[in-house]
Amino acid sequence: MSKNNWTTENIKSQKGKIVLITGANSGIGLEAASVLSQKEAVIIMAVRNLEKGKAAMSGILAKNPKAQVQLMQLDLSDLESVRKFSNEFHAAFAQLDILLNNAGIMFPPKRETTKQGFEMHFGTNHLGHFALTGLLFDLLKKTPNSRVVTQSSIANKFNADIHFEDLNWEKSYDQMKAYSQSKLANILFTYELDRLLKVHKINSIATASHPGVTTTNLFRSKGIVSKMSSFIGQDVSMGALPILRAATEEQLIGAEYFGPPGVIGFRGFPKLLKSSSKSYNITLAKELWTVSEKLTGVVFPF
Ligand SMILES: NC(=O)c1ccc[n+]([C@@H]2O[C@H](COP(=O)([O-])OP(=O)(O)OC[C@H]3O[C@@H](n4cnc5c(N)ncnc54)[C@H](OP(=O)(O)O)[C@@H]3O)[C@@H](O)[C@H]2O)c1
Repeated sequence: MSKNNWTTENIKSQKGKIVLITGANSGIGLEAASVLSQKEAVIIMAVRNLEKGKAAMSGILAKNPKAQVQLMQLDLSDLESVRKFSNEFHAAFAQLDILLNNAGIMFPPKRETTKQGFEMHFGTNHLGHFALTGLLFDLLKKTPNSRVVTQSSIANKFNADIHFEDLNWEKSYDQMKAYSQSKLANILFTYELDRLLKVHKINSIATASHPGVTTTNLFRSKGIVSKMSSFIGQDVSMGALPILRAATEEQLIGAEYFGPPGVIGFRGFPKLLKSSSKSYNITLAKELWTVSEKLTGVVFPF
């Protein structure tokens, strides 16, 4: 076990655990799937495109033929797909130990909307994961020591806010503000979920992470930003460490937030960090929760 820096060597065997990872065909999600399968967990790779998923799964199996991995189709930008996924997951599994809400999109240059008409960042990164967690909540609740980990971004600190007056950016669209709102929402969701788990005395926790700047497909077709990411960022084996730590470190109490340290936090081994001051605003978190229930039609069965 590494003493100074947290690495995958710190992860104990995850044998017997069912781990669901969104966005598992690419970047950080794929790396997390690969690492956790090496640690003997059963991995369900939730992917929106099964062909891409098959290629990603083949890569994991080529490295580790004993990996227990399977694919399931999930489009977070369509709440019907999230409900279908939940039904299929319930039919196949009676427990859920770790849910990694990792998938995400960044910066469509023009405003885009999900199947139900929500702005794409808010609808995919936040509402899709809110609905998924709520629909699988009965399984999380009955699995002792289960954990929900949600991937945020340093963008939660970029003057981010939840724009209740125009959550879907219909009046004006700014890709950075829209991405930042969704990533602040990811942390507000985590902290509120963890508070509610404790109020209801449920033996589960919620944690969050950010990967600094990690060279992945997230930056594809982003021109100069893409070039900058490979210059200032880190590779995916480093970028996956914060979410892996948030998912597996024992003795966490809930509401921890891990990421590369420092004022900028672009790269480095994961440390326990403070998120933006706004992310600790309980009133904001509760308001977001209520709105998210209303918009998705998903109420968590506490
Ligand atoms: N890379 C960074 O520097 C960085 C920084 C801060 C935060 N993050 C966060 O890290 C997470 C993972 O991103 P990444 O860097 O690994 O990027 P990535 O390589 O582009 O992976 C994103 C994953 O999300 C999936 N996805 C996108 N829309 C989806 C939808 N509607 N339904 C289901 N899955 C969907 C993608 O599927 P397809 O392959 O089909 O598109 C892909 O598997 C994201 O939440 C991102 O915001 C990344």
